[in-house]
Amino acid sequence: MSSQPPLSLFLADESASTRLGAVLADVLQPGDAVLLRGGIGAGKTHLARAFIQHRLGRMEDVPSPSFTLVQTYDAAGAEIWHADLYRLSHPDEVMELGLDAAFDSAICLVEWPDRLGDLAPATALNIALSPSGDGRLAACSGGRPGLLAAISAAWGQDD
Ligand SMILES: Nc1ncnc2c1ncn2[C@@H]1O[C@H](COP(=O)(O)OP(=O)(O)O)[C@@H](O)[C@H]1O
Ligand SMILES: [Mg+2]
Repeated sequence: MSSQPPLSLFLADESASTRLGAVLADVLQPGDAVLLRGGIGAGKTHLARAFIQHRLGRMEDVPSPSFTLVQTYDAAGAEIWHADLYRLSHPDEVMELGLDAAFDSAICLVEWPDRLGDLAPATALNIALSPSGDGRLAACSGGRPGLLAAISAAWGQDD
């Protein structure tokens, strides 16, 4: 299977990151997972929060799951799992959290996905956030067929 070329998006400020979260919320479906990569302060939680608030259609409080590991939300047509695996020490704990089952049925947004080991879904969308000037660069790759193209189209449309 030929993979789609990665998509590199420049997020000049926080509001650009918020818009990317909304774009993702419009195109992701149950069974899709987003692996949010990048160091502390890269903007992983900010992006996930924007996604969840847009999908819920209200400014719900979206705390970082760094202590609870997982927070779940019931959006119309989809359950959303927001996970922060920084504190996991073994991939077995992924099963204990029920994340492996959630990958099949929910939309999962996962911070520190390197902790998943082999349990990372093969068709997950990867978004690596890195500092770029005062903003961030979002390098998007993978995902189910057609997903990157849909993100690219939705991102460009309201520019
Ligand atoms: N595109 C951007 N440009 C500048 N600052 C941003 C951008 N996106 C997010 N931020 C800011 O960066 C910080 C990221 O924090 P957070 O999302 O908690 O990071 P992480 O979850 O990766 O540790 C927040 O203060 C947020 O407002
Ligand atoms: Mg975070």
